[in-house]
Amino acid sequence: MNREREKWGSKIGVILAVAGSAVGLGNFLVFPGRVVENGGGAFMIPYFIAFILIGIPLAWIEWSMGRWGGRQGHGSGPGILNAVTQKPYAKYLGSIGVMGPLLIFFLYVYLESWILAYIWYSLTGVLSEAAQNNTTGELFSRFISHEKSIGPIPASLFFFGLTFLINFAVIYFGIRRGIEKTVKVLMPLLLFLGIALVLKVLTLENLSEGLAFMWNPDFSKLRDTKVWFDATSQVFFTTSVGIGAILTYASYVRKDQDIALSSLTANSTNVFIEVIVGGTIVIVPAVICLGAIQAQEVTTGGIFSLGFITMPMLFQEMGPTVSWVVQLTWFVLLFIGGVTSSISILQPGLSFIEDELNLQRKKAISLLGVITLFFSLLIIAGGDTAINEADILGFQLALLVFGAVEAVLFAWVLGGKKGWQEIQKGADIGIPQIYRHIITWITPTFILVLLFFWAYDGGMEHLLMRTIDQTSTIELLGGFEMKEGHFILLLRGLFIALFAGINGAI
Ligand code: PHE
Ligand code: NA
Repeated sequence: MNREREKWGSKIGVILAVAGSAVGLGNFLVFPGRVVENGGGAFMIPYFIAFILIGIPLAWIEWSMGRWGGRQGHGSGPGILNAVTQKPYAKYLGSIGVMGPLLIFFLYVYLESWILAYIWYSLTGVLSEAAQNNTTGELFSRFISHEKSIGPIPASLFFFGLTFLINFAVIYFGIRRGIEKTVKVLMPLLLFLGIALVLKVLTLENLSEGLAFMWNPDFSKLRDTKVWFDATSQVFFTTSVGIGAILTYASYVRKDQDIALSSLTANSTNVFIEVIVGGTIVIVPAVICLGAIQAQEVTTGGIFSLGFITMPMLFQEMGPTVSWVVQLTWFVLLFIGGVTSSISILQPGLSFIEDELNLQRKKAISLLGVITLFFSLLIIAGGDTAINEADILGFQLALLVFGAVEAVLFAWVLGGKKGWQEIQKGADIGIPQIYRHIITWITPTFILVLLFFWAYDGGMEHLLMRTIDQTSTIELLGGFEMKEGHFILLLRGLFIALFAGINGAI
């Protein structure tokens, strides 16, 4: 446990790694889907409020606790929270920071594989053809329901397998230097092409309709708990906070190295890319091409599908040759961006197995591989039902719960004063004093109140499975039929078993 911890090559190195973790599918697939599902403009106010009052402070909290825990030889939630607070129970709360990222990974790696498939469909011209014939929706639904194939294998499974292997190969061959270098090249390219696409969108006919949908606030929606729940969880998801990934990355930061500015830089870059680039190139064309109502319908069928259906329509506007190149490049960049995120999602689990179970790195990676493969396949088999469940539990609820744990421990157990000093150690900027009060009072309270309202307003009903139609059956991959409720029970039972296993190991 006292072995010397590896450290980041440079200050810029850790910023790049965290930015690489932050910028991913969240910005281009999840964000647009959530905005459209919630009716557009209504989403943006809670989103910015959550970013300023919770996202930014919680990121500072995670960075400082991670750096602190790393000093004591810990790299994941249980060890770090215990080291920081000196409370034995903090270990068990910290285990949510191992479970959460695993839950996210199971689904995230599958979504990532859709992008790899779209690289293939771009390369082979299938996608352009679909865009020309206005059948991108059909292409997507055939792909997702395993009807498209590569040789004898369903394309969905083929690309999933490949994506899974790529992720574990990257982890296996060591990551520090690799991520730093990749992100240094990737981020400018992604920004550059992204902004070029934004400019293209700005030339579209009926532009104002699309922009209005996203930017005209609908104040009446502010009373809707779901909008706040979706906006806040999206802020967490996209900045990679409230999950444990930053805890692990920050545990490799030197003890006197800045975290205040680094964290702010990574977060602001991410939100810019999400709102300006992701929002403009996915949401605006979606509203222009499909109309607000139909776009919203697409998201009720699955929020992650929107980008796959509308982005090809945007590329189509550029003429055959240009669109082929741009489309291909875009999906390649997006895929790499996804990989730099998904490997960060694997870090807490890996670090947990290494630090707390004292398993050797190679063995730790194999164990992690077996677990994640099993659960990802289960989610693929369960289709929409499973995706939806993993979305709510992993992409949303787990983040808010762990975020609340971190904020409460930091502000109320450790104490605002100590915490505030820790954040400012080595800081390259002076953080406005007001944030001291925000961190102490607003951040923890906000998340707790939100969780309460969510539970009261249907969340509990969902958890108790009251909202699930007990008569409907779903067809699992391979044709096996099962009652939907039974499948969800099975899925949750296995999640609980995994969580129990993690807690048993600490
Ligand atoms: N922030 C990443 C994205 O936007 C996803 C992520 C979530 C990464 C949680 C790490 C931890 O795609
Ligand atoms: Na993001």
